[in-house]
Formats: sequence, structure tokens, C-alpha cells
Amino acid sequence: MLALVAAQLEAKAKSADENKTKRIWVDVGGGTGWNIEAMSQFVDVPNFFSSVYLVDFSPSLCEVAKKRFERLGWKNVRVVCQDARKFRLEDYETGMSKQVAPRSPSLSYLTQQRQDYGGADLVTFSYSLSMIPDYYSVVDSVNSLLAPHGIMGVVDFYVQNQTDYSFRNYTGGLVDRHVNVLSRNFWRAWFDFDRVGLEPGRRDYLEYKFGTVLNFNFRNRTLGYIPYYVWVGCHKKPFSPSSLPHEIIERIDALATESPYLYPANQGDALTRAIERSAPEIRSKAFITAVQNLSANLPLPSFFYQNHHWRIYYDDRLQKHTQFNDEYIYAFTWEDARVDERLLKLGPDDKVLAITSAGDNIISYLAQSPARVHAVDLNPTQNHLLELKAAAYTALPYEDFWKIFGEGKHADFRKLLITKLSPHLSGRAFQYWLKNVHVFHNNKGYGLYDTGGSRHAIRAFRWIARIFGLQSTVQKLLSARTLNEQRDIWRNKIRPALLSKLICNLVVAQESFLWAALGVPKNQLAMIENDHANSDIVKQGKAKNTRSHAIWHYMVNTLDPVAEETHIGTDNPYYYVCLDGKFSKKCHLEYLRPEVHAKLSRPGALDGLRIHTDELEEVIARITPGTLTVAVIMDSMDWFDTGSQAAAAQISKLNRALQMGGRVLLRTSALSPWYIKVFEAHGFTAKCHGSRVDGACIDRVNMYASCWICTKTENLPPPTPEFDRIGGTDITSLTI
Ligand SMILES: C[S@@+](CC[C@H](N)C(=O)[O-])C[C@H]1O[C@@H](n2cnc3c(N)ncnc32)[C@H](O)[C@@H]1O
Ligand SMILES: *[C@@H]1O[C@H](CO)[C@@H](O)[C@H](O)[C@H]1NC(C)=O
Ligand SMILES: *[C@@H]1O[C@H](CO)[C@@H](O)[C@H](O)[C@H]1NC(C)=O
Ligand SMILES: *[C@@H]1O[C@H](CO)[C@@H](O)[C@H](O)[C@H]1NC(C)=O
Ligand SMILES: *[C@@H]1O[C@H](CO)[C@@H](O)[C@H](O)[C@H]1NC(C)=O
Ligand SMILES: *[C@@H]1O[C@H](CO)[C@@H](O)[C@H](O)[C@H]1NC(C)=O
Repeated sequence: MLALVAAQLEAKAKSADENKTKRIWVDVGGGTGWNIEAMSQFVDVPNFFSSVYLVDFSPSLCEVAKKRFERLGWKNVRVVCQDARKFRLEDYETGMSKQVAPRSPSLSYLTQQRQDYGGADLVTFSYSLSMIPDYYSVVDSVNSLLAPHGIMGVVDFYVQNQTDYSFRNYTGGLVDRHVNVLSRNFWRAWFDFDRVGLEPGRRDYLEYKFGTVLNFNFRNRTLGYIPYYVWVGCHKKPFSPSSLPHEIIERIDALATESPYLYPANQGDALTRAIERSAPEIRSKAFITAVQNLSANLPLPSFFYQNHHWRIYYDDRLQKHTQFNDEYIYAFTWEDARVDERLLKLGPDDKVLAITSAGDNIISYLAQSPARVHAVDLNPTQNHLLELKAAAYTALPYEDFWKIFGEGKHADFRKLLITKLSPHLSGRAFQYWLKNVHVFHNNKGYGLYDTGGSRHAIRAFRWIARIFGLQSTVQKLLSARTLNEQRDIWRNKIRPALLSKLICNLVVAQESFLWAALGVPKNQLAMIENDHANSDIVKQGKAKNTRSHAIWHYMVNTLDPVAEETHIGTDNPYYYVCLDGKFSKKCHLEYLRPEVHAKLSRPGALDGLRIHTDELEEVIARITPGTLTVAVIMDSMDWFDTGSQAAAAQISKLNRALQMGGRVLLRTSALSPWYIKVFEAHGFTAKCHGSRVDGACIDRVNMYASCWICTKTENLPPPTPEFDRIGGTDITSLTI
């Protein structure tokens, strides 16, 4: 908890708009002051804080604390032996509040309205919330203690079950929160002896009164798997220069939908209101949720309280997200970023929408400084991976960045996650990586690039290599100095084994294997089979037309040109990482270059990033019409059934979201996919930018049979309204 709140304060100090002369910490129920001393692992307490208050009503513990700080010689720490419910910062700090009238203990409650914010930058409760009998009043009093942008940290024991919290959508992730019935009853009874209250209400009230920034749930094995939580929060009502909560939400809506209305930010309230009443608008789901929650006096979803507005609200418990079982498929992106760069030539006015995958190409687009990049993925964990990359640029030096994403391993990952990355991650991404630190800590195995669904393909390759005794040959291939040397090894040693029909029949043609390993759905398989059936070798009777032969030929057409035409050891990181399990300093993706790190680690470099967790369809439907300039949809159109209405509907939506002249970049497993005609019928002209015929290599990945750009040349007639609106709610009248 101390590490997390210290990281928040340091991140705020770095991005501070305000020139901080003071920094105040109040530790409520601080006991012997052990925590304040422990904080020195993370910050230089005597200098980082202008004052620290330890508030505790036990005189004996206060004595111990006083001795501690005398011994340490920390002059900025003050031990206040008082009931926390009565503690007022105004009594100790000068220049705190303009309206302090002399307090009369008996009347203050009735006559004096306390402010709704205070001057403390940090308020902490360490194992004290559960010890304070009527916790409501102490929790309430934090409101008038905490500065507008202050941070609150709590660590405590708890027992809760699913029914206690499952109806809440604002908690910032629920990983491991449920405590089973045995454990609940045991720990509650155990703590009752000590008059420590573990009832669910304590944590619930905290989450209701404040905005949740981050939290996690843990069990301590040494202490009999005792459940505890760490929670970091802030004021429920967002403070900003314009200070009206609905304007903040409006701004976030604009960020998610390209709505032009709210820039520049400082416009008057009257204008906002006028806009509200004007023409029907397309609203983001984030906006609708926020408005609903505000009107019910609940906190906003935790995404609204993050330090960056990269990640956009989504409901993690919908089946469409949980179907992925908290696993990403791609640990790196299977699309050649260099070709994208050459084809797209992004400029400062470009607004790009692209599928996230592992986020590598999103980062490559950002490195070309377009106005905006909307990253879209239905699988929340692919977006967690992108968030981790964004946070790592923001907070880590190149050496650490390289270890995590270049080598896929970092022995100190957990420490970096908590002390450096946490302020730059959304609550859910943070919980995800905290639960999965082992990915990077694995000191024997392969780290990041041996995780995700696509690891099955890589493992299968290693397995084949082992069976055929090719491991050292693979190493030779990777270190081949010339392309000729590589070709030689490929043709004589590896190809015969890897592309043997036996392997093909055994492994590759299994539908379930392909799906899991490469994310190949059945419609895509059908396209591959179709092209195969029409190919010359089948027509001339030289090959059989079966599924396994179709796959076999597809593999040959993928791998042969790669091995013949690209130098894997120096210039094909996509295959390098598959073969070696990591990148090398000589051969890695563009986003791992030191220059890209230098560029994207500058303050504000990633401000244009928006991460949407939803179907592509849902996101483009909510983008303000005529705003996007580029949409990169990878092979996602292959997933539609041939001739389906859904494909046409999606193409219409793309047309609407794009500017005139806007481009759709797509790749496909077919040489000439059926839906190109649908694009042409919906206001686009299509051009093929590479197709895999006669052993050609269309890019360094070469996994797709062709690559297309469809350019918008015509507007479609306006659609009938079908978008969500906030029916009848006048958001300007909402209060928190
Ligand atoms: C379990 S101790 C935790 C001490 C320390 N924060 C730690 O983490 O080791 C709980 C502390 O809360 C204090 N406490 C309980 N109710 C309080 C109240 N109403 N006002 C101030 N302190 C209170 C107790 O005196 C006790 O020192
Ligand atoms: C911030 O404060 C310091 C010392 O109080 C002062 O020297 C500096 O000029 C201030 N910076 C700004 C941007 O106001
Ligand atoms: C969960 O705990 C609550 C009390 O906090 C109890 O009323 C409820 O029955 C429990 N539900 C389950 C499924 O155990
Ligand atoms: C919020 O929580 C409720 C209860 O679990 C759920 O039914 C609902 O779908 C959730 N999400 C949204 C976006 O409403
Ligand atoms: C568990 O509790 C023990 C004893 O207080 C402590 O030393 C240890 O660091 C704790 N472990 C974790 C993971 O918090
Ligand atoms: C808060 O927002 C979520 C997401 O839309 C919704 O499910 C939930 O019902 C809202 N809460 C209330 C009380 O409206």
C-alpha cells in the first residue's frame, strides 16, 4: 500500500500543473509509527513530505511513536494523540482554510459546515479501518481532510463473498475478491476476539464514498491464507479547472468518440448546455454509464479516476469478454509494422482506428505522431498488454523496457509494476499483471513470448525440432550470416522436417489446434480451402484437394518465401521470436528501438491513445461520422460468413466513420476475398497491395495471402438512428 501511494504521489509530482510547495500525509490509526518509518523504502520521508501527522487515540502507542521519530530525528512528523473522528488539519496547518471560525466543541457540528475537501495529499489507514467501531464518521471526515487531487490508501483484512459486491460496476476489478464460506466464518470469528470488525460494510462504504483508483485482493500464506486488500482511492467528485463533473465526463466522451464539441476545454457551461439540447448525438458507453451512476449518487467507474484516459470504460463481466478466460492470444502482433508504415504514411492529422492485438502496431503508429490512435479489441487482456507497454514507455528507462518486452523477462517485474507502472495502469490492467507477474519472473523458461494462445504453435514447432533433432540447426539458422547460408540450412535441413506431410496430417490440420494456436476461425479455413481448390496444382491433378493439403500448401506458401527471401537473423523479428523465444538486439520489432522509446517516453507522447474493449462494430458505430482517416482491421473481415449481411453493415459503418479519402487497410487469407465487392458497393475503391502468388513474399510475416487498401470515395446516405441516447436525462442538472 505504501509503495502504491508513493508511486501515485511521485507520478503526480512529475506531471504537476500546480507548483507544490507543501505535501501533507495523515496516517489515521497509525499506532507506533512503524508505517511512517517503513515509507522511507519508497520516498525520503523527512524531505518528500512537508508534514506528516500520525493520529492515534492510544496514549501508550503514541509514546512509542514519539520516541521513534525522536530517534530518527524526523522533525516533520507530528504525533497527535486524539480520536481520529475529531482530527482537523486546520488546527495544525496554517493557511489551510479561509473560513476557520473558532471551534466550539459542542456546537461545531450544528453550526459549521465542513468543507468538501481539505489539504492532505495523502491519507492512509493501515489495519485501522477494521478497528474503528463506528467507521462511518471517520471515513466521512476524510472528505474534508483530503486535498482535491489527494490520494487515499487503505490496507486491511476483509471477508466478502460474491453476493456482497457483484452488482457493482465501479470497483476497478474483482480479481480474487471472493472469499469462500469456510474462510469467511473462520476469520470473522477469529477477529471478533480482538474486536476487529471484518463485516463487508467497511470496505463497501469506502468504495461508495470515494472513487477507486486501484485495488487488489491477496492472501497471506504465512498467516494461514488470511485475506486482505489494498485499496487506493481519491475524491468521488472529480475536481478539475472547470470543476463541473459533467464537463469532465463530457470530455472523456469526446475522447472516446472524436466528438468535436468540447475543444478547447475551457468553454462556458451555457455552451455545453446548448450543445446538449441540439441534434441527436452519438454517445460512448462510458458516458452513458457515468451519467447513470452519477444520477444514483454512486462513484464513477474506476476508469474515470485514472491518471491517464487511455483506457475506456467497459464492463468486464459481460460474457463477450469473459469468454477469453483471461488469456491473450497474441503475445506479439502478427502484422508487419514496416509495411503498414510504408503503405499508410501517417501524418499529424491522421486519426487511426486499429485492432489492438498485442499492441505492437498501435505503438508503431503512435511513433509516427498521428492526432489519435483508437485501439480496439474485444479481448480485455490484449488491451492489458497494450496498456502495459504504454505504462512502460511512460515510467521505465530503456534497459527495463527492453528486458520486459525484448527478452520477455525481468526479475524485478513485480517491484517495477508496483512502484513505477501502477500509476499509469487502469485498475483492471493492474490487477491482471499483478496476478500474472510469473510471466516475466520465469527464470528457466521462455517468459512473455511463451504465453498466450499462440504459444501452442511455437511449442509445436519446438517439439518438431526436438523430434527431428533440429535444435542446433535452428540456432545455426538464426545466426546465419548471409541469406544464402540461411537458404541452404532451410532447404536441406529444416524444410524437409517441418513441412513433411506427416506433421501436417498429425498436427496442423486439426481444426481445434489451428484455432487455439493461430486464432484461425472456420470461415478463414474455408477461404484457404477455396483458394486451394482453385489452384493450378489441384486442377492439374498434382495435389489432392483435402483440408490437410490446403493447409499444407498454405504453410508452404507462408514459410518458403520467408525463408528464401528474408534474413531471419537480422531482419525478420516475427520469425526470430518464434524460433528463439525472445528478440535480440540485432533483430527486434520497431517498437523496441531505443529511438522509439526516447520519443514515446516524453510527457504527453501517448495522449492520443484510446483503448476500447468492445467489438470493432460497436466502436465505429459510436465514432463521430466523417472523422477517421485510417482503419486497420487486419484479417477481421475473414471471420464473417460469406455473403453475410453483418459484413455489409460493418462496411457501411466504416464508411460513415471515415472522412472522404479515408483508408481501410486489411489483410486476408484469400487471394481475392469475397467482401472486396461489398466494399466497392459501399462507397469504396479497392486496391490490392501485395498478393502471395508464385512464391512472392508480401511482407516479413507472409501469413496472409493478400493485403488491400479500400479508399472511401463516396458518402453513403445517412442511416436511420439506431444509436443509444441518454433519453430525457438533462445531465446538467445532475449532482454528485
Ligand atoms: C491494528 S492497529 C494498526 C497500527 C498501525 N497502523 C499498523 O499498521 O501497524 C489499529 C490502530 O487504530 C487505532 N484506533 C482505533 N480507533 C481509533 C480512533 N477512533 N481514532 C484513532 N485511532 C484509532 C488504535 O489505537 C490502533 O493503534
Ligand atoms: C516553482 O516553485 C519554485 C520554488 O518555490 C520556483 O523557483 C519556480 O520558479 C516555480 N515554478 C513555476 C513554474 O512556477
Ligand atoms: C454472502 O454473504 C452474505 C453476508 O455478507 C450472506 O447474506 C449471503 O448469504 C452470502 N452468500 C453466499 C452465496 O454465500
Ligand atoms: C453492471 O452490473 C450488473 C450486475 O452484475 C450487470 O447486470 C450489468 O450488466 C453490469 N454492467 C453494465 C454495463 O451495466
Ligand atoms: C505475510 O505475513 C508475514 C508476517 O506478517 C510477512 O512477513 C510477509 O511479508 C507477508 N507476506 C505477504 C506476501 O504479504
Ligand atoms: C452504474 O453503471 C453501470 C454500467 O452502466 C450500470 O450497470 C449500473 O446499473 C449503474 N448504476 C446505477 C445505480 O444506475
